[in-house]
Amino acid sequence: MKATNIQQIISNDLVGSTILVKAWVRTHRQGKSVSFISLNDGSTINNIQVVAEGDFSEELLNRVTTGACIAVTGEVVESQGQGQKVEIKAQGIEILGDCDADAYPIQPKKHSMEFLREKAHLRFRTNTFGAIFRIRHQLTFAVHQFFHEKGFYNIHTPIITASDAEGAGETFKVTNLDLNNVPKKEDGSVDYDQDFFAKEANLTVSGQLEGELAAMALGKIYTFGPTFRAENSNTTRHLAEFWMIEPEVAFADLDDNMDLAEEMLRHLCSDILKNCADDLAFLNQRLINEDKSKKAADRQTMTLIEKLQFVADNPFKRLTYTEAIDILRNSKPNKKKKFKYIIDGWGADLQSEHERYLVEKEFNCPVILTDYPKDIKAFYMKMGEDGKTVRAMDILFPGIGEIIGGAQREEDYDKLVKRMEEMDVPKEDLWWYLETRKFGTAPHSGFGLGFERMVLFVTGMQNIRDVIPFPRTPQNAEF
Ligand code: 4AD
Ligand code: MG
Repeated sequence: MKATNIQQIISNDLVGSTILVKAWVRTHRQGKSVSFISLNDGSTINNIQVVAEGDFSEELLNRVTTGACIAVTGEVVESQGQGQKVEIKAQGIEILGDCDADAYPIQPKKHSMEFLREKAHLRFRTNTFGAIFRIRHQLTFAVHQFFHEKGFYNIHTPIITASDAEGAGETFKVTNLDLNNVPKKEDGSVDYDQDFFAKEANLTVSGQLEGELAAMALGKIYTFGPTFRAENSNTTRHLAEFWMIEPEVAFADLDDNMDLAEEMLRHLCSDILKNCADDLAFLNQRLINEDKSKKAADRQTMTLIEKLQFVADNPFKRLTYTEAIDILRNSKPNKKKKFKYIIDGWGADLQSEHERYLVEKEFNCPVILTDYPKDIKAFYMKMGEDGKTVRAMDILFPGIGEIIGGAQREEDYDKLVKRMEEMDVPKEDLWWYLETRKFGTAPHSGFGLGFERMVLFVTGMQNIRDVIPFPRTPQNAEF
């Protein structure tokens, strides 16, 4: 017999049929003559109850412990108890994998997120992480579907590169040199000629530059790949290895770019509302429960589901950096020196406290900020007419801060070269990038969505380490 998954059992009318289920035991209530076994196989957040009555040996039933993996054959029957429509009347039980009950860390009780991070190899087995990773999958799928239906092509950009697209110098080196015996040149510097690629190489911080090359022929492309940043930011919003979605569109200006980003984010929220209802309901309730132990002022003003619905239904607020600075300068926390970084003039980089003030206090909706000072943004952004700002856009989300960063690109060869010189970006290394500006250049725009930040928003989780299976952060690469 082929196994039926629990999702099918509870959503189809299989009452009366005999089925086989293979799953992990969540709980086992062992009575004198009847046993109730709750099973989960990952196909849904819902468990199926198995009722084992009759001649099952004591020895077998004792091995049905929390965490064990078992196969059950039995008849699907209408449930006698509350909380489920159907259950399985067991005819046969086979132990597939025993679980040492005393040593198994995932007990049927509440565990802290910190504890579960140390058990990342097993945390998939909790309701919370099951829900998160099913939603993460659906989001991945929805991203590909969104772009595919709009005629974008998915491009696989390299993971090993020799460039630092963002110019922040926060790259991880890739080398096969013997680190205990590094070849040196006469001047004492590392002789990369002897390295694998015969040049300095690193893990990519963004697929954008290569993505732009593809857009200059295919028109509309997007990348969806891992990116790596060696920034020493030990925050709840930063990972050293994260996934980024980067569309790049020929002939698009900054307005088109904002329209695309906004449409995508709103679409992703409605997709999850539609396709992940059970998991979302669970995470929604989880946050409502958490609120009960919080002070009134710290409680959420909208439930998770209301928040997603709000984003799906409402346009984002768009304003320039300059307008935002005026608002921030005159804001209460700025005047009362409640911000850690006081805004005293134009040109300052915005910190997450400022971004969150704009989103959560001033506008109460997602915000798109545009036209940032050129000095705080990357070299490839198109210069504004004022000569002071670039055509950048950041999208700021409640509870998250920056979720998207993007821009219209500088398509003019001379202006781009000038910016690279001003910002000390090595032109020789990026000769190929510059050539697209010589051979049929065109206005174009794109952006990068931090995938884990999106998963954070959609699941209502608080820490980015909890929305990627195995987080990489400073001093942590376990698993
Ligand atoms: O703003 P960023 O650095 O933009 C770029 O990399 C551009 N090349 C994108 C483009 O225009 N194609 O990063 C884009 C997004 C951020 O808005 C944020 O959501 C996410 O990537 N991000 C991180 N997410 C997790 N951990 C980190 N360390 C992140 N750094 C950026
Ligand atoms: Mg950014």
